[in-house]
Amino acid sequence: MSQEAGDSRPIDSQRGFIQVSAPAKINLSLDILGRRPDGYHELRSIMQALELHDTLSVEPAPSLRLSCDREDLQDDQNLVLRAARLLQEATGCREGAHIILTKRIPTEAGLAGGSSDAAAALLALTRLWDLPFGQERLARLGAILGSDVPFFFNTPSALVEGRGEQVRRLPTIPQAHVVLCKPVQGVSTGRLFSLLPVSAYSLGQETERLLDALDQGVPPWTLPLSNTLQETATGLAPIIGRALAAFYGAGASNAIMTGSGSTTYALFPDERSARTTALTLEDTEWTVVQTRFAL
Ligand code: C5P
Repeated sequence: MSQEAGDSRPIDSQRGFIQVSAPAKINLSLDILGRRPDGYHELRSIMQALELHDTLSVEPAPSLRLSCDREDLQDDQNLVLRAARLLQEATGCREGAHIILTKRIPTEAGLAGGSSDAAAALLALTRLWDLPFGQERLARLGAILGSDVPFFFNTPSALVEGRGEQVRRLPTIPQAHVVLCKPVQGVSTGRLFSLLPVSAYSLGQETERLLDALDQGVPPWTLPLSNTLQETATGLAPIIGRALAAFYGAGASNAIMTGSGSTTYALFPDERSARTTALTLEDTEWTVVQTRFAL
């Protein structure tokens, strides 16, 4: 195992076979400042990477090819293949690669699994093809693929602004146990943003409040978590409200939705209380996953 400078991800590399871990993220805060002329929204968010991760491997091949253990994701438009083609275009590199993707992160979940896979692909292919691209350049390239991609070059904790491309790594937040609850029903990010009322826009005070709490050393499981998108998302998928209620019923003190949903989560000081809640939450309406912060 070796470690890429400036990247907290373990990279396993032996004889042209490179393996990278692609972590999930949660939003500890998510403020929307307003709608931009380009149609995107200006946001202010604190993102935290999780131990829950997909695994991406690359090996030399005559052309670009993706093998994924989830057949429904193994198509030409997968962000991983789009990342590979973008890297080829940006560098003029004509080499191919066989990309092997093992999925664990639920999709359409607000956990940025696709974006994290894309970031991992950029990183792994840069190594495989021996390209002179550093993390910063890859993050800029990644922003073309999706707003969440640049964060994954600045893990485990970061303040994210702009459309998602302005990322400032934060001091590592102390460890917390996380229970994720992913309802069967997903939420379309584009639709959700298009339905967001102007009254939801703010100056980013909730993220400011969270930054202050982090500065004061407030433990993660008592942090003032927030998500501006939660109310509109719950209108689209009422199951989100039921999942939050289930968390509170199970004794969680700070359940919230991550990103554009539909996953909700709560933070816990120890594995035992996380497991007790996870077991209480078990239901056919959603998938429950227990994990921790990536440190
Ligand atoms: O960039 P990404 O493909 O992840 O965004 C999906 C959709 O979410 C965009 O098409 C846009 O409608 C919305 N979005 C937004 N503002 C952002 C990020 C995403 O409006 N900062």
